[in-house]
Amino acid sequence: MFEITPHLDPKHQTPLYIQLYKYILNEIEADRIPQGTKLPSIRKLAAHLELGKNTVDAAYQQLAAEGYIESKPGSGYYVADLDRQLLTVPKHGACTINIPELKKPLPNHIRYDFRHGNIDTDNFPFADWKKISNQVLFEKDIFSYGDRQGEPELRLEIAKYLYESRGVSCSPEQIIIGGGIQQLISLLCFIIGVKDKGIAVENPGYDGARAVFLHHGFQLKSIGIDQCGLKIAELEQSRARFVYVTPSHQFPMGMIMPIANRMKLLQWANRVDGFIIEDDYDSEFRYRGKPIPALQGIDPNGRVIYLGTFSKALLPSIRVAYMVLPEALINKFNENFQSYEQPVSKILQKTLCLFMRQGYWQKHLRKMRHIYQKKHEVLFKAVHEHMGNNVRMIGENSGLHVIMEVKKNDTEDCLIQKARNAGVRVYPTSKYWMNGRQTLHPQLLLGFAGLSEKDIQSGIKILSGAWF
Ligand SMILES: Cc1ncc(COP(=O)(O)O)c(C=O)c1O
Repeated sequence: MFEITPHLDPKHQTPLYIQLYKYILNEIEADRIPQGTKLPSIRKLAAHLELGKNTVDAAYQQLAAEGYIESKPGSGYYVADLDRQLLTVPKHGACTINIPELKKPLPNHIRYDFRHGNIDTDNFPFADWKKISNQVLFEKDIFSYGDRQGEPELRLEIAKYLYESRGVSCSPEQIIIGGGIQQLISLLCFIIGVKDKGIAVENPGYDGARAVFLHHGFQLKSIGIDQCGLKIAELEQSRARFVYVTPSHQFPMGMIMPIANRMKLLQWANRVDGFIIEDDYDSEFRYRGKPIPALQGIDPNGRVIYLGTFSKALLPSIRVAYMVLPEALINKFNENFQSYEQPVSKILQKTLCLFMRQGYWQKHLRKMRHIYQKKHEVLFKAVHEHMGNNVRMIGENSGLHVIMEVKKNDTEDCLIQKARNAGVRVYPTSKYWMNGRQTLHPQLLLGFAGLSEKDIQSGIKILSGAWF
């Protein structure tokens, strides 16, 4: 049932009924109480606010007289149908905080959205997930606070999975569960503390990580990339002791750091007594070449902080990621973060744990690898067929997105707009560059996971028509 809880001041010179009237009027004008909403009855609101019935009645009468609400005999008071264009909001001291625009739904004419971050939800095992979630609700202690580091059984499953699939060698005690990679990076910044405030980052690189470092007062040191990923020689010049890097699938350009460079990177960390923050965000999906183990697994000296997420291989909305800390840092976490509670729901963690333990996770991964491999092939075939040499594809070995370099003199904005006009959404890469894009031709980012094979083909065909 709809309720309102205004702050009314009985000591104020404005009578209470006017204060209540103004509050409701404000809420209606700002559309926080939408048209057609039934207001609480006079008796209930008076009891809820500990006011006299006459006070509430007087406020409602005033609103009704001004046409903001209307009385339906035998039913109560309802917010009237107002022409909101004519209302001036905010008024009467209403809240003037700038609320960022909510993500707008795609315009109707967009039929093919190559959004990186969308995944294939048609193949999510909803029935299995639902069965396990129901089962979890009957577990003992499920409704209490969980372990601050994350549920131990889930950490055990993640440790096993990381060892088998990524060569990561860790105990469950080294793992911290979090609500996404950015939240874990933020926690990591707190753990690292205030002494070291320089961090080397890939340029171009993941803007989401950069933003977190900046908010924690870190000074970013931009390091270029080449066909082998992060340029180690530039890193050595940078005097940084920390580096954030995506070695298994450089974001956004997609190169894989060869083993020789990985070894050099580890040697660098050892030499400068530093740490490598390895973001392994989508390594589950690799289409060519042998698996390359995570840096963490080949590091004998505890120099790597490993980050992974369930956003790509399971669901982005699940908001579960994990961080593997070397011993020195997990000790710091244990010493200083005893009072921090775990942000990820225990119910969700237990569900995920059973999903992994009962074999559904591996089954889902096998299925999705196959599905994404096919989508990837379809994408490349369609590009070859419809665009030929007009484009150059970058980062084709793994992951759920590719970079398309368009060999035209159009700007990135212009290409995006032309695509949009034709009903296709593609995404800029310029925001991943720190000091402006340094490529000859515009490069666009296309995520293909959320589209069907048929839609990938149609989308590429339409793009080609719109651009060439
Ligand atoms: C490099 C990189 N790391 C992390 C993430 C996001 O991970 P999460 O969903 O766990 O925050 C993304 C998202 O696209 C990414 O590109």
